[in-house]
Amino acid sequence: MSQWHEATRVAQIGNRSRKTVTLTGAAGGFFILDGAYFAREDLCNHIGSDLSSGRVAGERAVCP
Ligand code: FES
Repeated sequence: MSQWHEATRVAQIGNRSRKTVTLTGAAGGFFILDGAYFAREDLCNHIGSDLSSGRVAGERAVCP
């Protein structure tokens, strides 16, 4: 059965910024870009860096 979990509050993430949240053992990266909200697995496909420790540049999340 699916459950909803509060991951963060919007006010805790600045525009064009990101935040890492771990829920039920999995890390997620949350990003805000000009009023749009994005969430994804906090893992870069290249060599596995945590994507949320990078930055937002233009319309992209940039790996650290
Ligand atoms: S780990 Fe290399 S680009 Fe992200």
